[in-house]
Amino acid sequence: MSVEKLALIMAAGEGTRMLSNLPKVLHAVCGQPIVEHVLRAVDSVCKQKVLIVGHGKERIMEACHGQADFVEQQPGGWGTGHAIRSAASMLEGKKGAVLITAGDMPLVLPETYARLMSEVEKGYAAAMLTDHVDNPTGYGRVVRENGKVCAIVEQKDLVGEQHNIKEMNASVYCFDIEALLWALPQLKNNNGAHEYYLTDVINILYKGGREITTVPVLEKSECCGINNRLQLAQAEREMRRRINARHMREGVTMIDPEATYIEPDVSIGRDTVVYPGCVLQKGTIIGENCLLLPNCRIMNSVVGDNVRIENSVLLDARVGDGSTVGPFAYIRPDTVVGEKCRVGDFVELKNSNIGDGTKISHLTYVGDSDVGEKVNLGCGVVFVNYDGKNKNRSSVGDGAFVGCNVNLVSPVNVGSDAYIAAGSTITEDVPDGAMAIARERQSIKEDWVSKRKMEGKL
Ligand code: UD1
Ligand code: CA
Repeated sequence: MSVEKLALIMAAGEGTRMLSNLPKVLHAVCGQPIVEHVLRAVDSVCKQKVLIVGHGKERIMEACHGQADFVEQQPGGWGTGHAIRSAASMLEGKKGAVLITAGDMPLVLPETYARLMSEVEKGYAAAMLTDHVDNPTGYGRVVRENGKVCAIVEQKDLVGEQHNIKEMNASVYCFDIEALLWALPQLKNNNGAHEYYLTDVINILYKGGREITTVPVLEKSECCGINNRLQLAQAEREMRRRINARHMREGVTMIDPEATYIEPDVSIGRDTVVYPGCVLQKGTIIGENCLLLPNCRIMNSVVGDNVRIENSVLLDARVGDGSTVGPFAYIRPDTVVGEKCRVGDFVELKNSNIGDGTKISHLTYVGDSDVGEKVNLGCGVVFVNYDGKNKNRSSVGDGAFVGCNVNLVSPVNVGSDAYIAAGSTITEDVPDGAMAIARERQSIKEDWVSKRKMEGKL
């Protein structure tokens, strides 16, 4: 028989208290679905993970595709014991320990899963995560006899002295697989909620002469399950605190960590300073010694070292070492900005390559184009990339100087070191080193104002 490390994650409940069309476990905490936080924490201990799904199963299976196996609980809503029974076939014929956790508890630490697992490996039939809290209302309570865990009693089923118990069940366990398989068929639903409670397994094991141990939480927040939007916001805040603490420990300065929003999959180099209101999203890598001034949203982008960004948005983009971006720049997908570039205010870049040392200082749109090195794009330059039907590409060679308010009607190629006069609308290629001017000549009408006034027209 194989000794397995397996985790069952319960995510079949309705999550009615969220009042949402989205399944509860797909709501995001720090930009990542709740259940993905659980899967990741569990993954450090168990490679094989089974999600028990029911309500909203299609969407959950789509979101977690490739991250877990799935078992359906049918019918849904018969309780946590029924959920685990639905997955019992995954355990048949296996020996060892199985982790069981709830898909709505994103804050349980990987170390906690490891501690639960090691207790069962020592020989306990079950290990459960518990905490002592002043107000355990709503939670199952841990009942002990002569100090030994003998049962969990749900809120609705508490009697007498049990109301005073402060030790609560977090709904995170590790079981010996054989012991669990022996106990599961014995569950009954003769309780306050007419559900099959997984928690009743504890008393069944105790009566069967097996020992159960508890593992205390490492951090109070670990026990926070998410049942409503208030708890969602609390979990968000705690996860944010953890993520930001990790970056600060690794040498990142945060002016106000409570107002800095960083998703789990982000890396930031040392000596980078992050100001409030920055939102760093999935897949983003920020280099060393950068300055992220207030309100930057950066998603799935790579930013080099010594880059300064202010009040700007970067999506699926790259910015090279020593460049400055913003304030108020919008760098859209598939843009690569080179080193020591200047991308100034109200500049929008899309699907373009910008060579090293190029300056695009203000009010410019570059779309679907290749701009060389040390180019100067003056204020108000527009790459006219869309003809109403197709997107067209243009290029500007190294060292070119494009004056203010120039339209480059794509597709058009501007040679290196070429000059384009301000206000030109360029529709034909400009050779290397040439000067292009494409605008109406200025004409002067002397004394025009006084003449008009005499005629009574002004
Ligand atoms: C459960 C525990 C309680 C514990 C509390 C901690 C039981 C009977 N009670 O109560 O002791 O203090 O968690 O938060 O286990 N689920 C299913 N199928 C179902 C019902 C639930 O998969 O039929 C899933 C839910 O999606 C959820 C998890 O199990 O992820 C917990 O269910 P929930 O209804 O929130 O249990 P609690 O009432 O909170
Ligand atoms: Ca719950």
